[in-house]
Amino acid sequence: MNKVETIIRALDLSPHPEGGYFKETYRSVGEIKESSLCGDYKGSRNYSTCIYFLLTSDNFSAFHRIKQDEIWHFYDGSPIRLHVITPEGYYSNHIIGRNIMECEIPQFVVTGGCWFAAEVVDMNAHSLVGCTVSPGFSFEDFELKPRKELVSLFPQLEEVIARLTHE
Ligand code: GUN
Repeated sequence: MNKVETIIRALDLSPHPEGGYFKETYRSVGEIKESSLCGDYKGSRNYSTCIYFLLTSDNFSAFHRIKQDEIWHFYDGSPIRLHVITPEGYYSNHIIGRNIMECEIPQFVVTGGCWFAAEVVDMNAHSLVGCTVSPGFSFEDFELKPRKELVSLFPQLEEVIARLTHE
């Protein structure tokens, strides 16, 4: 078994629809009722959830968005490049990693409502990170847009969108 297979087995990871592998490691018992949630959530949400997320260099996490802020934590492997597009179309990218001397950052917060995608920086490598959200994650708050639709929203970003979306 290679290293990636070993991690997938040891951490019991499953394929994620955005690309990569994940396992939910925490879902709070407590819930927030819809009437107390700001933003347009349908139904209640747990206070918070957390996942392991594993990405390999032969794949990418495609542009998607969720309603909540998402906190990324670096754990192991290659640094990961996170691409972010705000709802107004402002683009930025950020290297999540441990080499602080090289301006990598161990934690990064993606603001809710932004489109974001990720790729492993090194070749023939993988990245293991954690992603925490509050209110807790629900696939009802998760949106993956096809390439054509995202490019029509942000035509000035066609190159990066085409590279980090599936058809
Ligand atoms: N649980 C399942 N998928 C996800 C995801 O993409 N992000 C977070 N934070 N939790 C999830």
